[in-house]
Amino acid sequence: MKILMIGDVVGSPGRKMFKREIPRLRRELGLAAVVVNAENCAAGSGITAALAKEFLDAGADAITLGDHTWGQKEFAGQVDSVDRLVRPFNYAEGCPGKGWRIVTMPTFSFAVVNLLGRVFMQPVDCPFRAADRALAEIPKNIPVFVDFHAEATSEKVALAYYLDGRVTAVVGTHTHVQTSDAQILPKGTAFLTDLGMTGPYVSSIGRDLKPVTKRFLTGMPSRFDVAEGPSVLEGAVITFDPAARTASAIETLRMREPLQ
Ligand SMILES: [Fe+2]
Ligand SMILES: [Fe+2]
Repeated sequence: MKILMIGDVVGSPGRKMFKREIPRLRRELGLAAVVVNAENCAAGSGITAALAKEFLDAGADAITLGDHTWGQKEFAGQVDSVDRLVRPFNYAEGCPGKGWRIVTMPTFSFAVVNLLGRVFMQPVDCPFRAADRALAEIPKNIPVFVDFHAEATSEKVALAYYLDGRVTAVVGTHTHVQTSDAQILPKGTAFLTDLGMTGPYVSSIGRDLKPVTKRFLTGMPSRFDVAEGPSVLEGAVITFDPAARTASAIETLRMREPLQ
């Protein structure tokens, strides 16, 4: 079976490309499921219940998030009503939403786990121990896909080896730049340091270059709007055995709209 995991969708350009391409990719690649990281889908920061529904209607089977989870202030009051969505599991106790969940498909079920890194990021609980806790609760007979939303490559690699053989895949998100290290680890877990981004690519990780460059030049705060122009869609296709915790292949996917 094949699952497609898609990197951070940025703003309306990213949403548009996702909606246009996913139904076709599902058919052409024979995908059994699609998981999308949508932490930047609402104007570059966060998500709303309405946008989550749009993703699910467009062919996503599960949605993961990251450090921008609460970017839209109404979302904290909505998260518990949104189906098939996970926010980072290693947020503090008492925080709304779920950090892992089981997604039931017509022919199989899978678990999706969302974790946040701690290196060069805001403080959260330990993602390694959080992963152990999630795995203690998840039934042993279903595949598990982990979206590790983290900045540091070292932390992503370390968590992937920590979970090798215990989960089906560990894929990184957050940097918005796809890495070229897709591999099956020694004990059978598929791994990729970062899936990349789905959004406008003439940009600084999806944001308009002008204010970003001005900020680097002057140090002055400014508003980072989502860039305009052609988009890229990036992710990875993982081939797995639905009755085991192993993957047999992982391949990156990248589609680019042409430069106008
Ligand atoms: Fe992101
Ligand atoms: Fe992020």
